[in-house]
Amino acid sequence: MTDERRYRVYTPGDESALTLEQAPSAEPGRGQVRVRHTAIGLNFIDIYHRSGLYPLDAPFGLGLEAAGVVDAIGPGVSGWREGDRVAYCSGPPGAYADSHVVPADRLLALPDGLEDEVAAATLLKGLTAAYLLHHTYPLKAGETLLWHAAAGGVGLLACQWAKHLGARVIGTVGSQAKADLAMARGCDTVILYRDEDVVERVRELTAGQGVPVVYDSVGKDTFEASLDCLAPRGLMVSFGNASGAVPPFSPLLLSQKGSLFFTRPTLAHYTTTRDELVALADLWFDAVLSGAVQVDINQRYALNEIPRAHRDLAGRNTTGASVIIP
Ligand SMILES: NC(=O)c1ccc[n+]([C@@H]2O[C@H](COP(=O)([O-])OP(=O)(O)OC[C@H]3O[C@@H](n4cnc5c(N)ncnc54)[C@H](OP(=O)(O)O)[C@@H]3O)[C@@H](O)[C@H]2O)c1
Repeated sequence: MTDERRYRVYTPGDESALTLEQAPSAEPGRGQVRVRHTAIGLNFIDIYHRSGLYPLDAPFGLGLEAAGVVDAIGPGVSGWREGDRVAYCSGPPGAYADSHVVPADRLLALPDGLEDEVAAATLLKGLTAAYLLHHTYPLKAGETLLWHAAAGGVGLLACQWAKHLGARVIGTVGSQAKADLAMARGCDTVILYRDEDVVERVRELTAGQGVPVVYDSVGKDTFEASLDCLAPRGLMVSFGNASGAVPPFSPLLLSQKGSLFFTRPTLAHYTTTRDELVALADLWFDAVLSGAVQVDINQRYALNEIPRAHRDLAGRNTTGASVIIP
């Protein structure tokens, strides 16, 4: 057994909670494989885990996705061989490491032509965009949607995909540089939500009607405005909390604002079976390999730079996807 690097969190908190350790590589148990990482993904959920917003039993590893090769196989596993190129995006947390042991039935084979870095940087984000656009609200050509944080990791992929599906995409972003990027990647219109009144702009852009669906991962800061941007019987898809969790609200609010629908989806519940996982991954791989969605990996970090990566992501200083190279 050789020692390798991995991050652990003993007490949830800010970036200083991230402790880089040396430990022997773990051996896979029944139904598990060990993946030696070539590239690791960075996601906002890693920050919720680290900070304790999404509680985990301490001490815990961090990071949900990576790509690499199978380098050890536990008892009872069939269908995988050492050396297979694979990726995963559903944990258990611990991808911030040289290698990680994961359930064999959560692994995905990487198609030829898809680079490890692209898979690691976008699998979780791409599968999220896939279920949000195809299942949570099956988007139809000609419909208009509002997507917050359009220049972010999930946002940049999803807006391009929505455009490819024939939708009209209104995005929100935090700066002019992000607006330029979002416009180059699928948005028809961009609203600078730190300067402009989002509700007013969306009403103007939709002849007063509002949109049938809002995809909101910003959470606390955008919640009320998002509801006010919806047409009667529209769907509010609240899928993240980058600015903090949405506070509790009364169902009456949905009635007052137009008999609205509200959902708080998470990728895990759209990939409960292996068939669901593989079907979403196929949709995503096809979107990338066909060129329908371009992948922008705009930040790169070494494994020992993850505290800086977290600061950049939480500080709104990133665009598109990030990758960590062990
Ligand atoms: N439910 C699910 O299944 C699921 C799966 C994956 C991701 N998500 C969620 O999707 C969102 C995007 O994830 P990501 O990893 O791709 O991150 P990201 O979009 O690259 O980064 C978050 C972005 O949110 C915006 N933001 C607005 N207010 C913020 C604040 N107070 N603090 C920090 N950021 C703020 C920033 O863009 P601007 O500067 O343009 O405002 C920032 O760049 C996250 O909320 C994540 O939790 C949910």
